Amino acid sequence: MASSNFWKPLLLIAFAVTATISTAEESESKEFVVTLDHSNFTEFVAKHKFVVVEFYAPWCGHCKKLAPEYEKAASVLSTSDPPVVLAKVDANEEQNKAISNEFDVRGFPTIKILRYGGSVVQEYKGPREAEGIVTYLKKQSGPATFEIKAPEEANSIIDDNKILVVGVFPEFSGEKFENFTTLAERLRADYEFGHTLAAKVLPRGDSSATGPLVRLFKPFDELFVDFEEFDVDALVKFVEETSAPTVTLFNKDPKNHPFVIKYFNFPNAKAMLFLNFTTEHFDAFKSNYHEVAQLYKGKDLNFLMGDVEASQGAFQYFGIKDEQVPVIIIQTNDGEKFLKPNVEPDQIASWVKDFKDGKVQPYKKSEPIPEVNNEPVKVVVADTLQDMVFNSGKNVLIEFYAPWCGHCKQLAPILDEVALSFEYDADVLITKLDATANDLPPGTFDVKGYPTLYFRSSTGNLLQYDGDRTKDDIIEFIKKNRAAAAVKPESRNDEL
Ligand SMILES: *[C@@H]1O[C@H](CO)[C@@H](O)[C@H](O)[C@H]1NC(C)=O
Ligand SMILES: *[C@@H]1O[C@H](CO)[C@@H](O)[C@H](O)[C@H]1NC(C)=O
Ligand SMILES: *[C@@H]1O[C@H](CO)[C@@H](O)[C@H](O)[C@H]1NC(C)=O
Repeated sequence: MASSNFWKPLLLIAFAVTATISTAEESESKEFVVTLDHSNFTEFVAKHKFVVVEFYAPWCGHCKKLAPEYEKAASVLSTSDPPVVLAKVDANEEQNKAISNEFDVRGFPTIKILRYGGSVVQEYKGPREAEGIVTYLKKQSGPATFEIKAPEEANSIIDDNKILVVGVFPEFSGEKFENFTTLAERLRADYEFGHTLAAKVLPRGDSSATGPLVRLFKPFDELFVDFEEFDVDALVKFVEETSAPTVTLFNKDPKNHPFVIKYFNFPNAKAMLFLNFTTEHFDAFKSNYHEVAQLYKGKDLNFLMGDVEASQGAFQYFGIKDEQVPVIIIQTNDGEKFLKPNVEPDQIASWVKDFKDGKVQPYKKSEPIPEVNNEPVKVVVADTLQDMVFNSGKNVLIEFYAPWCGHCKQLAPILDEVALSFEYDADVLITKLDATANDLPPGTFDVKGYPTLYFRSSTGNLLQYDGDRTKDDIIEFIKKNRAAAAVKPESRNDEL
């Protein structure tokens, strides 16, 4: 067992390499994927109504796997009418980085659909094998909404666990119809759209309605909702709000995953209840939680229920321990967290109300305060940040690091040396904080990567250090920016 697991990654790498070599040979004759770079990207995109662009990096394994499928899809789509163009940009190339920044490329491969000369940009959310790519792009390059003439056409989509938004109109013209089409164009990546002249072909709702109205079908909660305003923004809001389940379920069932992604993308505060879905109390939790969620619907708080089996990532992120489950967490838009461990079903409603009334204290994740802290570089945790950094009256250098970060490991011995050089200077403290295991107070430190270094002088001047990570430069920076210790007279005495 152990030995076969050990080999697996190596085998995968081996296959990936062979695959790319062989496609490189094949494609020498005919390449359907268009290569774009900084010299011709803008001009090429501007000339096309519909271009698909893959941002890749030569070293990326997923990109290598995608390459032959993408090429095959490009060849099939080159003959469709109108032709659909598939292109690629080497985002690793220094000169192309401005393009990838413009399109917010954060991982590889990233695929975007660029419409109307690049004026509308959409995330590619389809499959990654040739046939799936073709089907998805054919649909995306066609009209955003299709006419529903028979009940089967609507049913085939509604049964599919998807959200279908149907416009019912007495005729397919006029401003309301146009606004509906604009809505469909805007949200086509996430929902299915249809329009019809006859509500009777639709499976639910008043079948004699003549419209104009918009009827949204969903596979949960009330199953369909009607809407009669046609302002485009109001329509977008309607679709996004009504298509979110009252309670989003997060477990290993892939059917729920699109809703989980939407849940996390939604700009509202989030309430999350994590528990073991296979315990006997599940039903009690579920009905209580639904009731509360119903109560706060449309009030800027969205609800999710997560199975512990699927939620380990979330546990790590929030610093939750298994013995705290069942646990309910609320995270606000400015990053504040509120937590109730070992919650009982009948406590949910009152706790959420207390939160809304501002009666719950924010929660912060912290490592335990270390019992010994006598290395040259002192350990700071969330619970000691105030005392050691903000209120110590000292000049404090603080490194925010992650345990897995290579640059941090390189910096560690350098910081040790810096700390040793200030060993007998009681006004200077060199510290470090594991930023993956401790929450930082909102709005203080801007930690986007690791390591991040800040310096706080004893008079409260806060500076980010972005000089070279060498002993001499750091020491010089501290000497230049330190202030004489303001408070503690006893620390004065220590000075030799
Ligand atoms: C864009 O420029 C690159 C490099 O000069 C070239 O390989 C590629 O074929 C060009 N693409 C188009 C569409 O002209
Ligand atoms: C169509 O949408 C526009 C822009 O949102 C809005 O100003 C207009 O009132 C809408 N038309 C109708 C009939 O609702
Ligand atoms: C959930 O509860 C079931 C039944 O009590 C148990 O078998 C299972 O191990 C639990 N799962 C987790 C992840 O704790």
